[in-house]
Amino acid sequence: MEHYRIITPEGTRDKIGTECTALRGLEATLAALFSRAGFTEAGTPQFEFYELFQQARNPIAPESLLKFTANGGQLLVLRPDSTLPLARIAATKLAGNELPARFFYAQSVYRSPKRNGGGDAEIRQCGLELFGLSGLDADAEILSLAIDALDKCGVSDYVLQLGGEKPEYLNELINLVGNGKIRLEPNLKSDIDYYTGIVFSVFTEGSGGAILAGGRYDKLCADFGRDIPAAGFAVYTDRIANLKPEPQTSETLRIAVTKGRLLDDTLALFSKAGYSTPQSLLDKDDRRLIHDFPGSCISVVLAKAADVVTYVEHGVCQLGIVGSDTLAESGGTYTELRDLGFGACKFSLAGPEGSRAAMKNPHNLTIASKYPNVTKAYFTGRGIDVTIIKIDGSVELAPLLGLSDAIVDIVSTGATLEANGLRVIDDIRPVSARLIANNAALRLRSEQIEGLMGKLAVG
Ligand code: PRP
Repeated sequence: MEHYRIITPEGTRDKIGTECTALRGLEATLAALFSRAGFTEAGTPQFEFYELFQQARNPIAPESLLKFTANGGQLLVLRPDSTLPLARIAATKLAGNELPARFFYAQSVYRSPKRNGGGDAEIRQCGLELFGLSGLDADAEILSLAIDALDKCGVSDYVLQLGGEKPEYLNELINLVGNGKIRLEPNLKSDIDYYTGIVFSVFTEGSGGAILAGGRYDKLCADFGRDIPAAGFAVYTDRIANLKPEPQTSETLRIAVTKGRLLDDTLALFSKAGYSTPQSLLDKDDRRLIHDFPGSCISVVLAKAADVVTYVEHGVCQLGIVGSDTLAESGGTYTELRDLGFGACKFSLAGPEGSRAAMKNPHNLTIASKYPNVTKAYFTGRGIDVTIIKIDGSVELAPLLGLSDAIVDIVSTGATLEANGLRVIDDIRPVSARLIANNAALRLRSEQIEGLMGKLAVG
């Protein structure tokens, strides 16, 4: 199509002028730091065989890999991670070399953009890997370098979450490294499943995701035939280069709230906690979308349900109140803090009396839903083939008009189903309103958020 000649693929972008120089400057600074610390630069191919990323300790879900085919028919992937190729180098190409071996790199990794958009497909990373050393001193070397790297990048307002080991070990490590911005989180988990010891990630407000992440991966090299311990981290240089020059210093806590049926219960919850509803919200003719609770540092941002997740994920709202139906459907990166109890309803499969969907082994069903992902998961889990048609509202119409055999939708009182001659075939799961938080805000504004949660006193 003509327009594909003038736009870049989703999750990628052109960089011009200072965007390039800022990134290059950051990477030169980090390269100098890592070289001084005894690390040698290494580079790995921009694309690799698919098999490399299909082993047991696979860092990336297959659907996130960007795949293409070589002339010889082999499946190739754009490099989705730098640690795995470097572990391969340490275990194979350098098998005869003395340990420890220290490498750093500055290269991009590539992942399929997230289905709800907004994510980067090309992610620039500058990182290092230390092969052949384990224990407290080795972990302290890595962690100290991570902190130095942030310092050199000019990032001072951050929180480093550290976990993956017993609290005693982590405390000893913190004492060795001596940094007040480290927050102990023994239960911290990484999305990447090759870590075997410490894991850490660094957040700053306004970055959306982590700006640095790493950990210990002692079993990875053994998968390539050489059993050596290893640890490392990557700095997300693109994200750091794009941090706003003046991070948001405002004390205001923005809460994205779903417009519609959850709003009244949300306002009642706040009112019980002593926050009187803004007059502007009570005035039905007021079309403003942001309202301040009088005498407090809290603003309510009125948004569509799926957008609540987007605003929270990107950190422009620190908190969000949204139904678990939307969370189940949209995915995203956030922390779910509480089940607020209100807005209770359920996901159900429903259809007309005698619907084919109610049969024991139905095949080739057509299901209409506002929730195609939830619908797909439900039927896939039962091994039933379905064609899913996405409908944006009043989904009950679809079987009435003969578009679908049944629907998957939320059912509250059941009145809409009954009025339209439909009945529940199966209850899928309960749904209720949840309080969610942006991951960085949760760490950087924990006092404020915990204070508010204490007042809301739910759950
Ligand atoms: C929801 C849902 C059902 C109805 C169920 O729709 O999609 O249509 O509520 O409620 P009930 O069991 O109490 O009858 P909503 O009112 O949010 O509107 P929409 O269908 O246009 O999204």
